[in-house]
Amino acid sequence: MKNYNIAIDGPAGAGKSTIAKSIAKNLQFIYVDTGAMYRAVALYMIRQQIDPEDDIAITNACNNIDVTIAYVNGEQQVILNGENVNSLIRTEEVGKMSSAFAKHKTVRTKMVELQRNLAAKANVIMDGRDIGTVVLPNADLKVYLTASTQERARRRWNELTDKGIACDFNEIEQDIIARDTQDMNREISPLCQAEDAILVDSSAMSIEQVINVIIQLYKEKC
Ligand code: DC
Repeated sequence: MKNYNIAIDGPAGAGKSTIAKSIAKNLQFIYVDTGAMYRAVALYMIRQQIDPEDDIAITNACNNIDVTIAYVNGEQQVILNGENVNSLIRTEEVGKMSSAFAKHKTVRTKMVELQRNLAAKANVIMDGRDIGTVVLPNADLKVYLTASTQERARRRWNELTDKGIACDFNEIEQDIIARDTQDMNREISPLCQAEDAILVDSSAMSIEQVINVIIQLYKEKC
């Protein structure tokens, strides 16, 4: 039986995971958050005090990293060498470092293989930076989900403020711009819109509206 794959790519803070998670529930697909896998790799490297520019150390470390995915009540759990690291990978530091380590070929090769294996087994909606371009070039539907940097910074600021975390709007916006620059300009698999991806700019859209647009696109195409 054919597996259906939906690829959602886009920059940090565009709402990919919230939207993909909800669409997965609606269509009864498995949601795969590939950013979480790169975050788990970054956590390992941080713990080992490996420099993001140290190519040899990173290549060696990749031989000692085992990242797997499990699901508990439908929620993706990232298992790093047997340890569930879900609660440790959502910090700003891990986010920044995952972007820095993600530019390395050995890291990407390892993650892409894992991601393709997951997509081969089930109907998946996968989000990341290179899903439509590299991981699943034959995905049934590809969406490039973006929003203005100001809007993405505003959403992040709201999210942190709601959690009672003190933060500075300009600093958040600068971090977003720096991460975009790094993810869009790396040599291997940079973030870009696949030729056959549909652009959805969520700057002036609610989460519900984006979800409805993507589900409609899926129903029209598949
Ligand atoms: O989606 P996220 O913020 O959790 O991703 C963290 C970083 O991981 C992102 O800045 C770049 C990297 N990443 C990647 O290079 N390729 C992916 N498919 C997903 C994430």
